[in-house]
Amino acid sequence: MDFDLTIRNGRISTDRDTFVADIGVKDGVIVRIAPGLSPGREDIDAAGRWVLPGGIDSHCHIEQLSGMGMMCADDFYSGTVSAAFGGTTTIIPFAAQHRGKRIPDVIADYAQRAREKAVIDYGFHLILADPDEQALQHDLPQAIRDGITSLKVYMTYNALKLDDYQLLDVMALAGREGALVMIHAENHDMIRWLASRLLDQGHTAPKFHAVAHDPLAEAESSNRAIALSRLIGVPVLIVHVAGAETVQTIRNAKLLGAQIHAESCPQYLFLTAEDIDLPGVEGAKYCCSPPPRDANAQEAVWAGLKDGTLGMYSSDHAPYRFDESGKLPRGEDTTFKEMANGVPGIELRLPLLFSEGVLGGRIDIHEFVRLSATNHAHMYGLSHCKGNIAEGLDADLVIWNPERETTITAELLHDNVGYTPYEGRQIKGWPEVVTSRGRVVVSEGELKVQRGSGRYIARQCPEPASIAQRPSRSHLPGLLGLKGKAWEQQ
Ligand code: URP
Ligand code: ZN
Ligand code: ZN
Ligand code: ZN
Repeated sequence: MDFDLTIRNGRISTDRDTFVADIGVKDGVIVRIAPGLSPGREDIDAAGRWVLPGGIDSHCHIEQLSGMGMMCADDFYSGTVSAAFGGTTTIIPFAAQHRGKRIPDVIADYAQRAREKAVIDYGFHLILADPDEQALQHDLPQAIRDGITSLKVYMTYNALKLDDYQLLDVMALAGREGALVMIHAENHDMIRWLASRLLDQGHTAPKFHAVAHDPLAEAESSNRAIALSRLIGVPVLIVHVAGAETVQTIRNAKLLGAQIHAESCPQYLFLTAEDIDLPGVEGAKYCCSPPPRDANAQEAVWAGLKDGTLGMYSSDHAPYRFDESGKLPRGEDTTFKEMANGVPGIELRLPLLFSEGVLGGRIDIHEFVRLSATNHAHMYGLSHCKGNIAEGLDADLVIWNPERETTITAELLHDNVGYTPYEGRQIKGWPEVVTSRGRVVVSEGELKVQRGSGRYIARQCPEPASIAQRPSRSHLPGLLGLKGKAWEQQ
């Protein structure tokens, strides 16, 4: 066969196997995996290097207005370029609804901006701030049919917060339509009450952000989200798990048979609250919600990633510059309540996990593949085209040099943030060549594709949403007239 691209002699790892072979690509798809293929029109010798599936980053904020009204520093160009340089070939950022905005308009706006700028493939989750009748009866079902098969809802932030009644409405809708609900779980009133007293005492520095966002606020809220989910038997996914108690709460829920899914992020493995404790407002660079915690929580997150309690590892890239546009709206006088929440990480997500996780001996290469790609594909309806290395899947491939050593600096990165919380860290292993649908996107430190060459992917039904659930009270679906995917076959 004539291949458009061959990648030969590499050590290939999938979610379960490792072997040396050649990969033949035609029309953007992997058509042959075998030893001894003849070179294609473009041929890459990957001898001595590792060939892994392109990463899927299923949690990142790009060109998005935050709940606090701040614009991200990365647009769909810089955000996707930065992702690609870090070995990520698919992202699922958010189309963010703010109250009063119509969902179809929100989606059309994000879709147009991404279409013009993205260099890798992407889907969208919808952030839902206004679950009114129009949304629940019409706009959300339509968005789900258009391939936006997951929604993020918030239990905190004034502008985004849903109450428990609304959360049940959204979960019931997702159960009916076969979508997955992602939950930002932090107890709003605990945070608000603590923050108010801290500010009254004059404790305004960034480090008090981590005090206000106590681990119990995360654990309580996660537990409540799980109870709501179990009540009506609809799966949910707890995003950005930071605290040890939350990991244990999710593990327990899974042991009870609940369909609870969860992710964590680099900031909870590689940062702690001590990083925030810097002179002046410098610590704002490390502030995200939930905040990084302590060494014990880091170990709990590693253990959760290892035993499957936390099935996915995403960046939660929430890029804000260290100036008045993001982290310091009032300069040096900015309090921890006013700075934009979030840290950058879309480019370093995989290099950090590769170095510390795989080469550091905490996880094996198959766990790396699952946490960085395969599990995201199953979770979010992408496994028909992405997330692994197999004949028939898109040729989204990353050639890693496991020997290359790098000292991380902000200048090395391609985002538009200007700093990195991982400055100065030494890591080993680097994604040197990145392909997306058989196109070489990054090679020899250079971008090889044009803006707008990424594609929108209409996602299929997430796997958890296609499996019938068992509500905690099995008579409830009948009594309440709950019908649809989540409760079929019961
Ligand atoms: O601090 C964070 N994570 N900011 C981004 C918004 C969110 O809640 O994911
Ligand atoms: Zn969140
Ligand atoms: Zn986020
Ligand atoms: Zn699966």
